[in-house]
Amino acid sequence: MTKPPVTIAQISDLHIKAPGRLAYRRVDTAQALSRCITELNRFAPRIDLVVISGDLADTPSADEYTHLKTLLEALQLPFVAIPGNHDSRELMRAAFPDHAYETASGALNRHVQLAELDLLLLDSSVPGQPHGELDAHSLGWLETMLAASSDRPALLFLHHPPFAAGIWHMDRQNLRNADELAAIVRRHPRVQLIGCGHVHRAALTRFAGVPCTICPAPNHAVDLDLAMFRTPAFKVEPQAFHLHAWFAGPEFGTIVTHQVPIGDFEGPHPFFNPDGTLID
Ligand SMILES: [Fe+2]
Repeated sequence: MTKPPVTIAQISDLHIKAPGRLAYRRVDTAQALSRCITELNRFAPRIDLVVISGDLADTPSADEYTHLKTLLEALQLPFVAIPGNHDSRELMRAAFPDHAYETASGALNRHVQLAELDLLLLDSSVPGQPHGELDAHSLGWLETMLAASSDRPALLFLHHPPFAAGIWHMDRQNLRNADELAAIVRRHPRVQLIGCGHVHRAALTRFAGVPCTICPAPNHAVDLDLAMFRTPAFKVEPQAFHLHAWFAGPEFGTIVTHQVPIGDFEGPHPFFNPDGTLID
């Protein structure tokens, strides 16, 4: 039997409101997170770690983080979290006092060792602003952490994508200093993946020579308008999360990102009869 991969589920942009309140007066983000948690808990083999890549709260407020923590009590897996533009660094620290962020104030960066992997979680939030930026301390920390080893595969996570996805009202608030991140990534070939959020829909590009993904949301999706046809809007599309699976192998192994839909679907149905012939 093949050795199972190291699995990291990435969920993003939870936008939890105070109890009873809907996002944009339409989306029950709490119910959406609960459905996502059900999916995470029942996934087999058991997921090794859940990364929440920002926008945990919505406005943000202490009530929202209290509600979030109540909802997360159902999650039977370890999780780590970094802020997005809808979060408050101070309220997040207060909500998760046992989370080992790299410093006691400022950006909520974090290093997690998971089996053969180094996960580097970067706080790209700028207090009070929708766009992202990695401050000088965070960039220096990333460089130092990546330089600490040359042979361990490293995965980076941050809320704001360092590339334009083609949706204008999101692109104007992506990572402003992507060029500085790119310069660091290029110096460290052990970076195997950069996982982002913020756009509420799955996307993939290559950034500084590395696969760079945007994780879909468990709730609403940003309207896929690539030509400024419409005013900024959202749609309730099939919800999903990303499952990053790392398989050991030569060089830095192989990282494969699967998109996992959230919900109950027909199946699984067998392809083959008990005698091994294809069902026809
Ligand atoms: Fe965001």
